[in-house]
Amino acid sequence: MKKLNFTVYENQYIIITKKSKNKSKNFFRSVDNMSKKRLASRVQRTAQSGLGNIFANGQTELISFAAGLPDTGSFPKAALKQAFDQVFDNDNGETLQYHDSLGLLPLREKLADRLTKQGTPTKTAELMLTQGAQQGIDLVARLVLNKGDGLVVEAPTYIGALANFDAYEPTYHEVNMEPDGMNITQLQKVLLQHDVKLVYTIPDYQNPTGAVMSLAKRQALLELANRYNFIILEDSPYRELCYNGHLLPTLRSMDTEGRVISLGSFSKILAPGLRLGWLNADAELFQDIVALKAGLDVETPNLIMQGVNTYLDTNNLDAHIQSINKVYQEKMTFMLQCLQRELPAGVTYTKPTGGFFIWLTVPDNIDLGQLLTDRMLPEGHVSYVPAKNLYPSKAVHNQARLNFTNPSLADIQTGIHRLSEILADTIASKRPSYAFSNK
Ligand SMILES: Cc1ncc(COP(=O)(O)O)c(C=O)c1O
Repeated sequence: MKKLNFTVYENQYIIITKKSKNKSKNFFRSVDNMSKKRLASRVQRTAQSGLGNIFANGQTELISFAAGLPDTGSFPKAALKQAFDQVFDNDNGETLQYHDSLGLLPLREKLADRLTKQGTPTKTAELMLTQGAQQGIDLVARLVLNKGDGLVVEAPTYIGALANFDAYEPTYHEVNMEPDGMNITQLQKVLLQHDVKLVYTIPDYQNPTGAVMSLAKRQALLELANRYNFIILEDSPYRELCYNGHLLPTLRSMDTEGRVISLGSFSKILAPGLRLGWLNADAELFQDIVALKAGLDVETPNLIMQGVNTYLDTNNLDAHIQSINKVYQEKMTFMLQCLQRELPAGVTYTKPTGGFFIWLTVPDNIDLGQLLTDRMLPEGHVSYVPAKNLYPSKAVHNQARLNFTNPSLADIQTGIHRLSEILADTIASKRPSYAFSNK
């Protein structure tokens, strides 16, 4: 097989695409040439976040389980096109005009109504539109974190949240993930010893483990928030991607003291290219967040808000979600079957019931980051996200995230076969180059 073209910058796994090749090179060259003294200290950590690019394309042989992308075929292109056409056809001069920092009122009303019907009572006046849940994370970090402030994150957690938090230079406290959510005993210990201002959690189909936080843990987390006076950021973009089983109440719906700020997103249920999400918080915190949003980007793009609002007027979002959930359930089940059939002894993986990801654990003498660059990419032509950058401490090396929603069934079969072969060979040969090292 042909060798693939990829590059490692500062331990980031950047698969160079034809389009990005020159851009990336120039970017890194210009940063190198610039005196580091001219840059803010926050850049030091953010630049090593590993978020970089985990995209695979332009390389026909590469099968990527790395990026958390929806199935491209799931996007309701025709319906969205029709909705955006309608926006322009009915334009009264406002479509391309500035709007306001809260976002388009009819869309906020629809979302508040939808969330309320789904069991999280939501006031339109306390719901704003954001440029994806990612911007919601940033707004909350801006709201709460001064340099050095205590921040609890699940370990492992969403790489993009860490890339954002890094810029605020918090003091991280990792709390390990368990099959039913974060380890509450460990959280209690952290709270006894440290002043924590913010706890970031992904309670539904967590990225990267796929775990769902149990009801008991949701209750315990809220009790601890009340006792130790911290804010909870509930980031739940996968909540509606529920393939079997049932949903538990949101933390926001169980909150009695206005401590939970919740985030949602159209990225996984409609299309990430829209860059549209929402944030919901009690009035007091909400006012400050709206002011921060005004200073950040003024507002969410009016055209996008109008287009999605019209889409919702003329389409059944629930039916759309049901149809993509069928596709995702099939892919998830298939990947789990392939893993069960192909993986060598000593490798374990989570069995999620929703979301986008399966979490792989190999014997702890194997560094999956090193193995990715040394063999998986050049030889196996297969990729995943190694654990290292999903822990602020960067201390874990023998785990990796696999995405099952984006690859085709055929690619899942071939990719898991290639990955398993290399893992089996590595475990059998116990090559010293993959021995755990704390780099
Ligand atoms: C847990 C989590 N939060 C937030 C985001 C960002 O989503 P959005 O596209 O809505 O900005 C992602 C994207 O993968 C995610 O996994």
